[in-house]
Formats: sequence, structure tokens, C-alpha cells
Amino acid sequence: MQKLIVQGGTRLRGEINLQGAKNSALPIMAASYLCGSKCVLHNCPKLTDIYAASRILNYLGCKCSFAENTVQIMPTESDCSSISEELMQEMRSSIIFLGALLGRHKKCTVSYPGGCKLGPRPIDMHLSAFRKMGVDINENFGKVICNVKKSVHGARISLTFPSVGATENIMLCAVLADGETIINNAAREPEIQDLAQFLRCCGAKIKGDGESRIVIEGVKALSGCEYTIMSDRIACATYLSAIAGAGGEAIIHKACANCIEPFVSLLDQTGCSIYTLDEGIYVRSGMRMKAIESCIRTMPHPGFPTDAQAVLMAALTKSDGTSVFEENIFDCRYRHTDALIKMGADIKVLGKTAVVQGVDRLYGAKVEATDLRGGAAMVIAGLMAEGTTEVTKICYIDRGYENIEVYLQKLGADIRRE
Ligand code: UD1
Repeated sequence: MQKLIVQGGTRLRGEINLQGAKNSALPIMAASYLCGSKCVLHNCPKLTDIYAASRILNYLGCKCSFAENTVQIMPTESDCSSISEELMQEMRSSIIFLGALLGRHKKCTVSYPGGCKLGPRPIDMHLSAFRKMGVDINENFGKVICNVKKSVHGARISLTFPSVGATENIMLCAVLADGETIINNAAREPEIQDLAQFLRCCGAKIKGDGESRIVIEGVKALSGCEYTIMSDRIACATYLSAIAGAGGEAIIHKACANCIEPFVSLLDQTGCSIYTLDEGIYVRSGMRMKAIESCIRTMPHPGFPTDAQAVLMAALTKSDGTSVFEENIFDCRYRHTDALIKMGADIKVLGKTAVVQGVDRLYGAKVEATDLRGGAAMVIAGLMAEGTTEVTKICYIDRGYENIEVYLQKLGADIRRE
């Protein structure tokens, strides 16, 4: 089993090029299943979740090939319309293939998806939207069995919460459906816009992405295209947190400050200097951060992203003062706090609130990644700690970070994979 060994205490300095966005690449790969000709996706991060998506595409008969950060997806002629339970369990985003399958088949079967354990992750909004679009769905022993009697048709769908996955799934199903689909209370994350932009390049008719009301006019067919995936704003928040927490200065190239504006403005309050460059972000952090006075509430975009909660918390463990987090998206997203406490952090969790009282020192320890972003938070704490930190179960970290240790080594961190 691999682990990361972090020797803390080094200030970070250097320049890195941000990886492509996992949360864009996954739905875009699923969308390529709808295209009648080859798709070429540039800036695709090399991650275990991306390899899992390519295994699903291959299972469905497409031919997926990687060359560095470019993936080519050749269309399938196979009529395979189900995905094995084993593949579905590999990640949460496997459910995104359901919308794509419904775009092409009158029958399909998938099982419930796997993914990081952040609390219950139901798919009721996805299924209720598909039902409105004319899909007959039976849920049986963990399987989702779908049948379309006539055709998938457009519908007016109002989401009870702006779910990212449900919005994407509906978009995938709607682009080839008969007629118009309107998604009210749609998710507004930048990755939704990236998916819409890709689909438009393939010939889809989509308006309103990035806003709460998305309108999709179904078309008869989509063709493949060449597309560059956006940069990963959560990886950006992670490296910014590492530099803020460990101290130092760096340029993160290809970073989009606008996409993580709430994160950047909070970091600004900690005393870090942050400047937006033409195509990147410059950050400089002194020896000690200031705590954040206002409560850090995770919210759907354009609010503070839940995916950046753990990494910012790690950076704030050694700040001056008290910071308060409120996690509003997932029920179980403070699992990293036990490891941070083991390293000397003072964190009290009560329900959806976590109170972080800054301490003078963190100490290296043996810790186990609990989930993707929680694991990254432990690596950041390791960089800030005295002594050596060993992070195990790094398979979680590899789901979303392309060789995290290589990026951090470029910034001068003492970190290696064993
Ligand atoms: C996506 C991101 C994930 C991020 C999350 C919130 C990807 C691959 N993953 O996950 O990194 O943390 O958005 O920004 O893009 N919910 C329901 N019923 C549903 C669907 C969702 O109750 O049918 C709930 C979830 O349990 C959760 C909340 O809605 O509490 C948000 O989930 P959602 O936005 O769907 O997250 P994901 O798409 O799974």
C-alpha cells in the first residue's frame, strides 16, 4: 500500500501548472458517449477516477486512449446499455453515465454509485427528473432499471437543491431528447458551464448554464469535437491552502481566480497577499495566518465550495485566533478533523459546525486519509508540522490530485511517495 511521507517545516516557493478539472473531465467523458464521432479532450488530469470513467466507456464499447493529458474517445457501435456493479462502485460520478445511456438507449441498467463516504448521497433528484422525461424506473436490490416506452422527452424540472450531479445528468439526457427541457434551480458551478460548452461544441443547444435556469433544446445527433478541459479550481484552492499554511510564495499558472472567488477573498482576510495574473494566481504568505472572523459556510456555487473546506481548515489550524466552519452540503464532511487533532490541532466539531482554535505547533503523525479532500488536508497539515507525517490510504487522494507530491515538490516541499 502506498503512502506519502511529509517532512514539515519547509516554506514553499516556486511555480506550478494547475491540473485539469476532475469534476469537469468526468461528465465531459460521459457526454462523449453521446457523440457519433471521435472526441479529443485536452488537459484531462491523470487520476484514478478518470481511469475509472475510461473503463466504463470501454465497457460500453467506446475506445478510450490516453497520451499524456489528452484522451481520445472513439464512438461505440455496441448496443451494450448496462454498466457492471463493479464499475459503478468505483466512483460517485459513475451515475453521470445514466443520463448519457438514456440519451442513446430505450433500456438501461446501472447500480447505485460508489465514491467518497461523505454521508448519504442519494440520487432521488436524478431519478425523479428522468421519470418526468418519460423514463420508467424500477429500483431493485441496488439496481436502477430504466425503460423508455416511446422516447425521452423534454420536461420542466425544478430541483429541490441545486445538485451538481443531477444538473449534469439531466443535461446529458436532455441534449438528445425530444423537445425542450428547462432546469430550474440548476447548479451554477463552473464545471456545469464547461460541460455545456463542450456539448455546444458537439452541436447541442443549451442556454443559461452558469445561471439558475438552464434551457436545453434537444437535437437529433451530436458529433465529436476537440476540447480543452478547464483547470481544477479545487486543486487550486488546495495548493493555495498549502502555501498559506506552510508559508512562502508561489505562482499557480492556469488558475482562474474568478472560479474560486469566495475562497480567494477568505484567504485575503488571513493576511496572505494574493494577486490575479493574466493566467494564474500569485500568493505570498508570512509566518502566521490570521484566523477568519466570519463563519465559513459551505454553499452551492457561487458560495464557498464544500470541496475546499478541509484544505482551508488545515491551513487555519496554526492561525492566530478562532475560525468557525459550517458544512451545509454533506452530512459527514469533518472526518479529517480526527487526524488534524492527532497532529495537535484544536478543533471542536458539533453537528455541522467546526470551531478551529489556532495553535502554535502541529506535530508529525501517522494518519490515514478518510476521503479525497480530507486526505489532502492531512498532507497540508504535514507540511505545517514539526517532524514527519505519514499519510496512508492515499488512494483517496489519487482520485482527485494528479501526483500531489510532484506538484508540492515543485514548490520545494519535502514530500515523497513510498
Ligand atoms: C459534486 C462534486 C463534488 C462536490 C459536490 C458539491 C463531482 C464529480 N463531484 O458532487 O466534488 O463536493 O458536487 O459541490 O462533480 N443530493 C440529494 N439527492 C440527489 C443528489 C444530491 O439529496 O439526487 C444531495 C447530496 O446528498 C448532497 C447535496 O445534494 O448533500 C449536494 O450533492 P451534489 O451537488 O449532487 O454533489 P455531487 O454531484 O455528488
